Amino acid sequence: MIGALFPLAKPLLHRLDAETAHNLTLRGLSALPVLDPRADDPRLEIEVLGRRFPNPVGLAAGFDKGAEVPDALLGLGFGFVEVGGVVPKAQPGNPRPRVFRLTRDGAVINRYGLNSEGLDVVRARLAARQGRPGRIGVNIGANKDSTNRLADYVTCTRALAPLVDFVTVNVSSPNTPGLRDLQGEAFLDELLARVVDARDAVHPATAILLKIAPDITLASLDAMTATAQRRGVSGLVVSNTTIARPESLRDTALARETGGLSGRPLFAASTRLLAETYLRVGASLPLIGVGGIDSAETAWTKIRAGASLVQLYSSLVYAGPGLIPEIKRGLVAHLKADHATSLASVVGRDASSLATMAG
Ligand code: FNR
Repeated sequence: MIGALFPLAKPLLHRLDAETAHNLTLRGLSALPVLDPRADDPRLEIEVLGRRFPNPVGLAAGFDKGAEVPDALLGLGFGFVEVGGVVPKAQPGNPRPRVFRLTRDGAVINRYGLNSEGLDVVRARLAARQGRPGRIGVNIGANKDSTNRLADYVTCTRALAPLVDFVTVNVSSPNTPGLRDLQGEAFLDELLARVVDARDAVHPATAILLKIAPDITLASLDAMTATAQRRGVSGLVVSNTTIARPESLRDTALARETGGLSGRPLFAASTRLLAETYLRVGASLPLIGVGGIDSAETAWTKIRAGASLVQLYSSLVYAGPGLIPEIKRGLVAHLKADHATSLASVVGRDASSLATMAG
């Protein structure tokens, strides 16, 4: 039903600036009754991070930063929803405008800067939905003015791990000055050790994921995968938005805006990095593939590159929620055409060729 409303609402939403349109969408989702998701085709089910996911198509971080509507989003058919990014203290983020639609490129540039209502508000909302079905993760970061960023991640983990299936450590947002420096080897090692300890102290069953930037070198990928494995991280999210501006961009004026680029132009680079990651960790560390998924074809490619689960955000802005059932139907069709009995059997199958894919 909501999928059918989107074509009517889109011309209106796209006449508004992107942040206003987004806030209106969140309000719409919270006003509508929460739907029970339709049962998924059993072939889409996958066991990963110690849990069963009814389908592998998730909502990426940044859409529901405050955990306002996770159940409405699950009702649209997502197999899981990652809320956040959340930081300990409420902070406003960067001045508006800070989100831009590059319509001709199927892309978004954002420089929100981890605007957040803060940990207490998000924790209360997640606590209020305890006991409801559906897989939920939370994306955590550090306050811009924090004097101890490591402690911020520990604080968020301690407070939120008991309430979710997974916690994603976001050290890859390009919009908080210095945040991506936390991907450096020595800091990352200590950060992951402390976050894993905090999780163990409050709720050992919750998975800890590390989300990485698409702009890292293969040498730092080597170091990060080794550190993640050594510290007992449960999986990696590949990838966040990029600070690169591919030559192919057609909305050249908006392309000059500062921020992280997501959507179609991110697909090739994030999929190559995903495949490179899979080649390093194999089945030992599950991967969530994210960046530029806008169809069943692109979701299928992420899975072949090494993703056990996938996520999307930007394509929703252009295609609306009807995209979710469309991707799921397409994945089932791919499985049938391949005579594959499960998604798990396809994960990483073409990582070698996709690591060198052009584009
Ligand atoms: C994001 N993303 C993001 N990631 C993260 O780890 N924490 C966050 O708070 C946010 N916030 C955010 C806001 C907006 C407006 C966008 C578009 C994106 C990144 C997001 O989760 C995802 O990694 C990228 O957008 C790539 O996926 P898509 O959009 O190409 O499907």
